[in-house]
This record gives sequence, structure tokens and C-alpha cells, in this order.
Amino acid sequence: MSKKPAFIKELSLPIVAAPMFLISGPQLVIECCKNGIVGTFPALNQRTSEGFEEWLIEIKSTLKEFEEQTGKKAAPFGVNLIVHPTNPRLEADVKLCVKHKVPLIITSLGAVSEVVDAIQSYGGLVFHDVIKKRHAEKAAEAGVDGLILVAAGAGGHAGTINPMPLVAEIKKFYHKTILLSGCISTGRDIASALQMGADLAYMGTRFINTIESKATPEYRQMIIDAGASDVVYTAAISGVHANFLGASLKAAGITEEDLKKDRKIDFGKELDTEAKAWKTIWSAGQGSALITDSLPVAKLVSHLKSEFKEAIEEQIKVLENYPK
Ligand SMILES: Cc1cc2nc3c(=O)[nH]c(=O)nc-3n(C[C@H](O)[C@H](O)[C@H](O)COP(=O)(O)O)c2cc1C
Repeated sequence: MSKKPAFIKELSLPIVAAPMFLISGPQLVIECCKNGIVGTFPALNQRTSEGFEEWLIEIKSTLKEFEEQTGKKAAPFGVNLIVHPTNPRLEADVKLCVKHKVPLIITSLGAVSEVVDAIQSYGGLVFHDVIKKRHAEKAAEAGVDGLILVAAGAGGHAGTINPMPLVAEIKKFYHKTILLSGCISTGRDIASALQMGADLAYMGTRFINTIESKATPEYRQMIIDAGASDVVYTAAISGVHANFLGASLKAAGITEEDLKKDRKIDFGKELDTEAKAWKTIWSAGQGSALITDSLPVAKLVSHLKSEFKEAIEEQIKVLENYPK
């Protein structure tokens, strides 16, 4: 029996628009799903579990209406849950995901079998994000359906490992769904992720620069202006290493000394502080270097499809010359 979920082959492109704190909400998720790619958002983008449920209802009902009106199938949507002892909302939010049968749950920080069992009980899938082999082994033990491998240069809480060994090392022992995350900005990058052995590309920063994201025009412009080396990797803002736009650190008066400090994150006491920090200090990945515009999701998906097809067709031609 195939260990890969059936929905992958039904997508218009093998991508998941990754959940992003303060950036992804119902509008972005709905547009992604209507255009045949997985849309996701962090539950914590709503300040309360009640607000979170309202978003679930809005997304589900809008996609149902879309399917009834067009006869097309919307892609599944997903919710990101922070599985950390300091997240006071975890239990309530899991219950809401079960109640509304959220198709895909993305867990971060902790892979816990109780959460996995609760989601799988109604046929939901759990993908867990990791930055190294040891975390992948633990998540595999907890029974997750897929692993999101967050490589060096990714937006948000990034890893430090190059994507090639990261995918290869984890594929040696993990045979379910693999998603590659980090600096995937173009259709060619999606093709490369598949070449490396991923089943799906997981794209964050590229989707900040869509009309449907909650990012301000200034944030999107800073991404357009940034090169790969303008992205700074630091634990000083969030307590976990993450990538931020250097220009936004500078604008907020953060010094080199500040960047050397480590803090501990507490999702209960500090969510508001964290939100304040991420509102002025903007996270993005090194893939910013390839982002030159801000456009509607429908247009972005259409561009990505053409670039993806062109890249694969070029690769097929390589076979005419190699191997000799
Ligand atoms: C602004 C921003 C906020 C993010 N917030 C979250 C989050 O709340 N939860 C999460 O699991 N990942 C979060 N991420 C990470 C993304 O889900 C994804 O792993 C990453 O963006 C992929 O790398 P890329 O940005 O280079 O495409 C965030 C990323 C960015 C850029």
C-alpha cells in the first residue's frame, strides 16, 4: 500500500503554502486551496480559540461553496499547532481541529503521539517540521504522516543544514511523505525539491508577497529589495533561531550585541511580546533574493506552474547528452 496520501496527486502543483505567524489568514488559505495548492495558517494567528474556530468555519464554508458553484475540487487546508508545554491553547485547539475535521495538521516544536492519534482518529493527517535527523526520528516514532524538513536559509525558525544531505539522510529511514522547506521561491525550485526526493515543496516567504497575505506593503517591498545575504539568522528575537530581514532589524535599532543574546520563549506569557516583535522585525528566508514582485495567489500559482514545467522539460533534454 502507498504510504503517500492521495491528495498529493490531485494538487495543481506539488506545493504547500506554509503557515506564517501574523501573515497567513483565511483569505490566503482560501485562495491557495481554490487554486489547487494546500493553504495553511497558524492557529495562534487568532488570539483566542473562539476566533480560531470562526476562521475554521469561514474557510470550510467558503471552500464548500466554491466546490458547489464551480464543480472543482479545492485542495485540502491545514492548521499549524505549536506543541509546546507553554502553549496554553493546545488542548482546546486540538479539540476544535477534531470537531471540524481539519484535513492537515502541521505540528511544530513537539511531536506528541496523543495529538497524532487525535487527528488520525477522523482521517486527518499530521505533518511535523524538523531541522535535524534526531527530531525526525522522534516524530517518526510518534507516528506522524509526513515530515517537513526545514533547511538552511528558510524563513521563520530555520535550520542550518543544506537541503541535499537533510533530505537524503532522513529518506534513508523515513518512507512516508517528505516536504522540503527553505528558500523555495520559483517553479524551478519546486522542480529541484522533487529532484532531491521531496514529495512536496513547502513555501513560506514567496507567499508573504501575495495580495492575500497580511503583510504590509513595506514588508513586501523589503523582501523585493533583499538579497540572500541581507537575511540575518539569530535567536535574539524569538528564543529559537530564526531568519529576519537585516533592514528591519536595523530599523528597529537592534545592534550586533543584541543579536548575540538568547532568550527563552514562553507561548503563554509571551505571545503578545512575540507578536509585537514579529510585527516590527520581519522574518523572511534567503529565497527573498528571487522575489521581485507581489501578486495575487492565482497569478503566482500560474507563474509557478509555467516555470515548473519549463524546468522539468529542460531536465528531460539533459538526457539527450548525459549520461554518455
Ligand atoms: C514570517 C514568517 C512566519 C512564520 N511563522 C511560522 C509559524 O507560525 N509556524 C510555523 O510552523 N512556521 C512558521 N514559519 C516557517 C514557515 O512555515 C516555513 O517553514 C518557511 O517559511 C519556509 O521557508 P521559506 O520562507 O524560505 O520559503 C514562518 C515563516 C515566516 C517567513
